[in-house]
Amino acid sequence: MSIQEIAKQIVENGRGLLAADESNGTMGKRLASIGVENTEENRRQFREFLFTTEGIEKYCGGVILYEETLCQKTESGVPFAQLLEAKGVVPGIKVDAGAVMLAGSQDEKITEGLDGLRERFADYYKAGARFAKWRAVIEIDSHSRPTGQAIHANAEALARYAALAQEAGIVPIVEPEILMDGDHSLVRCDLVTREVLETVFDYLQLHRVALDGILLKPNMVIAGKECDEQPSATQIANATVACFQDVVPDIVPGIVFLSGGQGEVQATENLNAINLVDSDKPWILSFSYGRALQQGALKAWAGKEVNKSATQQIFAHRAEMNWLAANGEYTADAEDNRQAATA
Ligand code: 13P
Repeated sequence: MSIQEIAKQIVENGRGLLAADESNGTMGKRLASIGVENTEENRRQFREFLFTTEGIEKYCGGVILYEETLCQKTESGVPFAQLLEAKGVVPGIKVDAGAVMLAGSQDEKITEGLDGLRERFADYYKAGARFAKWRAVIEIDSHSRPTGQAIHANAEALARYAALAQEAGIVPIVEPEILMDGDHSLVRCDLVTREVLETVFDYLQLHRVALDGILLKPNMVIAGKECDEQPSATQIANATVACFQDVVPDIVPGIVFLSGGQGEVQATENLNAINLVDSDKPWILSFSYGRALQQGALKAWAGKEVNKSATQQIFAHRAEMNWLAANGEYTADAEDNRQAATA
């Protein structure tokens, strides 16, 4: 399959992505929040429960895995990548090595991981990965950040990663995440998102990345968590669609949002509002949520195998709600009906 076909397959019918690619350190924080020890087996078991949930292939076209998870198997010995592939869910891999302080900057970050990436891509392809993720972290405030230095350095790294991915027959997910931390306004986020995305697309073109063979994973245009004026879902949706119409080429097959610290229902409502905006939207607009797909399931699991069925019901419900939102068909009734059934 070509990278273009894989990208389309992932988001067909509005399917989204489950971002289950938390590094072992980040997963440790998630497990600590439910009082569960950060062991390889605990990480494996929770993810097995998510991946073996019946029917998720209707809602999720792909799952982003961390390297450890790509090499793990179900309890009965089936490699996770093989299990997902057999369901029609494309296995993907987080390939960046995380963000570190950018030399010469005050307090901004650059994502590392380009060294040896060509060879790693060859191994990931052999292990079954058909798409990849690289996350750039862009800090924002009301006046001075991000600097041109941070924007350009991160955009170039994203483009070099994306070119290497496509060379290996792997669809790159290009993720420039403008953080929700801070008290900046929606207008400020809009301005910065435009500048960052324009720069990212300039570098992608400079590095001859085929734009019909990527998926973009951006933040929504949203106010900072500490901003006094919190916009409504409709305001977020209108600003987000208007921004993307101006800066994202039509040829990009899908835009899969990160949740970035939004609550589970909030992330669903915002995605639904985005899909309800009545204007030209040439891309599939779906989700690539980590926390907003897993929080409830993680709590229901609580580190106990006996909670498998509750974990899977909650995860399936959340995935279905987001898939409905990706089709502009999410309603409060759909949310409540299922919650009542599983209560
Ligand atoms: P969140 O949806 O929790 O922001 O995670 C998505 C992700 O993969 C960030 O890189």
